[in-house]
Amino acid sequence: LLKKFSAELEEEKASAIFAKDTEEFIASLPVSKSKYDSRQRPILIGGAMNSEIGVLVRALKNPVIYKQLNYIYIAGTYKDYPVVISRTEEFQTNAAATTALALVNFNPVAVINQGTSGGYISTLKPGDIIIGERSINTSAIKTEYRAKGAGIDFTQQLLLGDRVYNKDADKFEFCKEMTADSTLLKLAENISDFNVVKGTIGTADGWNNQIDYINFLNEKYGVVCEEMETNAVANICYNSGVPFIGIRVISNNITNDSTFQPQSAEVAQKFVLALVEKYIQEVLIK
Ligand code: 5AD
Repeated sequence: LLKKFSAELEEEKASAIFAKDTEEFIASLPVSKSKYDSRQRPILIGGAMNSEIGVLVRALKNPVIYKQLNYIYIAGTYKDYPVVISRTEEFQTNAAATTALALVNFNPVAVINQGTSGGYISTLKPGDIIIGERSINTSAIKTEYRAKGAGIDFTQQLLLGDRVYNKDADKFEFCKEMTADSTLLKLAENISDFNVVKGTIGTADGWNNQIDYINFLNEKYGVVCEEMETNAVANICYNSGVPFIGIRVISNNITNDSTFQPQSAEVAQKFVLALVEKYIQEVLIK
């Protein structure tokens, strides 16, 4: 059993080895001694691990590190427009915390979260891009009552959603799904040269290897891929009215036996750079 579960750490280990030079690159950057100060509101881009921000960080001009509660942000410019990269770290708690801190400290005009994911459809291959039309929290569920000894069945469930601030009602309410900002979505749909699928990203603090459960989530909620950050970042952006979109690359897909490929993380970053360029040119500096 132990042997079987130790494999769960292999993806992270493989990513860290793949991104060793990015870790060193980030460590070599100057650390800002003052508060972030920018005339234009920056675009915030999140990625959980070094392997998921290496391309982005290297694309920045004049990169400078900012630290908040030990989380790392790299600020610079891309196409002469301010951009802040947030290394969110993995899992929903870190993703939410880094985003909330960033909204307060950098006042971003828009937020893009991106990274790797596991495919839920057998036609999805490593390197394919998922445009997150919406996201759901697949771990926020209430299961149906089952008596002692009746067995475990997660398919008898109610999706709860998250507690999201509703400006009109001035209170936090349940929200079952977070939809992408329509402007960012339209721009993302118009990017060529990538294999793209639009759909629902499923976020949870977990890595699901049960194909029946994967198929259930796909059939019931239309989830096309799973990962651990998108919906948490979307939630914070929703709370604050900041435009958001999640972009993912398929890095593994148990429904067609595709094992984890850390280098796929670069495809999502390249896609996001194309999206950011369009957003700057067609929306922000117009
Ligand atoms: N399930 C869950 N998270 C995944 N990730 C990549 N593939 C998967 C998967 N199949 C991403 C998560 C997290 C890290 C483990 O990689 O978003 O950051």
